[in-house]
Amino acid sequence: MAGFSRALGAGACGSEGKTRAGQMTKNGKLSEWVEEMRQLCSPERVHWCDGSREEYDLLCSEMVRAGTFVKLNEAKRPNSYLCLSDPSDVARTEDRTFICCKNKDDAGTTNNWRDPDEMKAMLRGLFRGCMRGRTLYVIPFSMGPLGSEIAHIGVELTDSPYVVCNMRIMTRMGRAVLDALGQGEFVPCLHSVGAPLAPGQKDVPWPCNAGNKAIVHFPEERAIWSFGSGYGGNALLGKKCFALRIASVMARDQGWLAEHMLILGLTPPGGKKVYVAAAFPSACGKTNLAMMNPALPGWKVECVGDDIAWMKFGPDGRLYAINPEYGFFGVAPGTSMQSNPNAMLSLGANSIFTNVAMTPDRDVWWEGMTEKAPPRLTSWLREEWSPGCGKKAAHPNARFTAPAGQCPVIDPDWENPRGVPISAIMFGGRRPSTVPLVFEAFNWRHGTFLGSIQSSETTAAAAGAVGMVRRDPMAMLPFCGYNMGDYFAHWLRMGRAAKAGHQPAIYYVNWFRKSAEGEWLWPGYGDNVRVLKWIVGRLAGTAGAVDTPIGRVPAPGALDVSGLNIGRAEMDELLKVDADAWLSEAKGIAEHYGKIGERVPREMHDELAAMERRLRAR
Ligand code: OXD
Ligand code: MN
Repeated sequence: MAGFSRALGAGACGSEGKTRAGQMTKNGKLSEWVEEMRQLCSPERVHWCDGSREEYDLLCSEMVRAGTFVKLNEAKRPNSYLCLSDPSDVARTEDRTFICCKNKDDAGTTNNWRDPDEMKAMLRGLFRGCMRGRTLYVIPFSMGPLGSEIAHIGVELTDSPYVVCNMRIMTRMGRAVLDALGQGEFVPCLHSVGAPLAPGQKDVPWPCNAGNKAIVHFPEERAIWSFGSGYGGNALLGKKCFALRIASVMARDQGWLAEHMLILGLTPPGGKKVYVAAAFPSACGKTNLAMMNPALPGWKVECVGDDIAWMKFGPDGRLYAINPEYGFFGVAPGTSMQSNPNAMLSLGANSIFTNVAMTPDRDVWWEGMTEKAPPRLTSWLREEWSPGCGKKAAHPNARFTAPAGQCPVIDPDWENPRGVPISAIMFGGRRPSTVPLVFEAFNWRHGTFLGSIQSSETTAAAAGAVGMVRRDPMAMLPFCGYNMGDYFAHWLRMGRAAKAGHQPAIYYVNWFRKSAEGEWLWPGYGDNVRVLKWIVGRLAGTAGAVDTPIGRVPAPGALDVSGLNIGRAEMDELLKVDADAWLSEAKGIAEHYGKIGERVPREMHDELAAMERRLRAR
C-alpha cells in the first residue's frame, strides 16, 4: 500500500506519525495511544483515515493492484469488489476469542478467560514489530448516529486496508468522528493481520497469521486487541468486539442493553407502526426478517438494523433502540431475489463481497442466489468451478458488506439519534422439534427466562461443527463480555427499571420446526409476517392466545394462515407443546444453568421449576 500513502501522504489525512497526529486530533489520549502503538507495531507509515470517498477509492484500487480485490463488472455491480480470503480465515474463531478481566468469575464459564496482565504481556510479544512493511491506518468510528446519546465512539488501528474499506461501509467513520470526539472517551481497538513484511518481501493477497489468532477483550479497560485474522467478525472491531462484547459490559455498568438483535418497523394496513427487536443466533435469518417483503397484503416491514441493537429507556419510560452499525455484513449463500429481495437490492452497488464465487463476466454468485448455477465460475478457492463438481462455489459463510442506506425498505427513522421505541422483543433459533412456531412470555421475568434458554443448531458463521443444538442465551453466547449469570440478572434489573406498563412484550419464535417426516412445517420468509401480525394483535389486545405450560400460544384461528396450504393438523403440530419433550428440555436447561454456574439468578431457577410444575400438572 505504499502508493496509497504516497498519494495521500501530502494531503489532508496522510501521516507519518506523531506530527500528523497533532494535526488530526487534539485528543491527547488518542495521539498518545496511537504513538505508543506505532512504536510497538513498527509500521512503515501511519495514515489517519478521513473517511472520504477519495480515500476509499484509492485504497480499493491499491488492493486491486495487490491482488486482494477484483473489481466487479461496473455495468452490473457499480463500485463493487470481490475479495477472496485465505482458506484458513473464513469465520469467527470462538476458541481464540478471550475475555480478560481480573476475576475469572466475572468472565464466567461461557467465555475463554485469561489473566489480563499475562495476556497483555503475550500480546505485546505478538504485536511487537507486527506491522513492519505495512501502513498503520487510524480509523475513528462511531457506533450509532453521530451525536446520539446512545452512540459511542471507537478508534481502530489496523494494518489491513480491507478492514478500512469494510469499516467505512459498516460504521460512520473518519474526520467527522474525530471532530465529534473532541477530548472525549473512545474505545481503543488494535488490530493486525500479524504478517510483517521483510524489506523487498512480496505480499500475499490475504495476509493473516493462522497459527496465532487471538481476539482479545479487556472489559475493565474497555479495550480490544485482535491479532492474526482479517475475517470480519474478528477484524471489523466495531461489530462483535465493541458493539457486543465491550458494549454489553458498558451497558451493564450504565443501565442499558447491548444486544445481538435486529430492529424492524411493522405497519399494519391502515394501522400504527410498531417496532420490534429480535435476537437469533448467527445465520438464522435475522437479515431476512429485518427487511422482509410481507406475504400479507397491506403490511409493511421497514428495517432499522439487521444484527445489533443498543437500547436505553427514554424519559417517557419506553425502551428506545438504535442500530449502532451503518451497513450490513450479511451471509451471502441462500440470499436471493426470492428469499430476500431487499438484501439483493441493497448489495447492487458500492459493496464488498468476501469468499463468494465469480462469474466469467465478473459478477458474483453463491449457492441459492439463482435456482440454476451458471455453467462456469471461479470458486472462492480461486478454482474453476462447474455445477456438479462436488464442491461449494462460495464458502457457506461468504459475506456481503453493503451500505444500510441502500436498502429499499430502510426505515425513515433508522438514523434518528433518539432511536425507535420498541414494543416487542423476540427470541428464536433453529429447532426442528419441541419449540412451537411462536409463544408469548407471561411477563418480563418469564421472557428473560425464555431468552436465557434460547437454543439453536450451529451454523457456518463460526468455525466448528454445523448442525449441533447448543444453548445460546439471547443469541449472546459468543458475544456477552461478562458472566452470563450476571447478564440474566441485568435483564431482570432492566425490567424492574422500566416504567410500569412500558416493558416490551417478549416472544419466542421458531420458523424451523419439522414434521416427523422431516419436512418444514412453516413456509418462513415473507410468511413470518403472519406471526408478527399475531404479535401486533396481542399488543393491541385483539388477538387470542391460550396458556400452555411454557407460555401463551395463538388461540385456534388466531394466527392468519389464509392462502397457505396449512391444515388444522399441521397447525396443531406447529403450535404443539409436548409435555414429555419439554420435561426433557427442562433437564437440559438445568444442565445449562449448572454450566453457567452460581451466578444464574434465583429467579431463573424459580421460573424453570414453575415451568416443570406446570408441565407435570398437565
Ligand atoms: C454475524 C454473526 O456475523 O453473528 O453477524 O456471526
Ligand atoms: Mn450476528
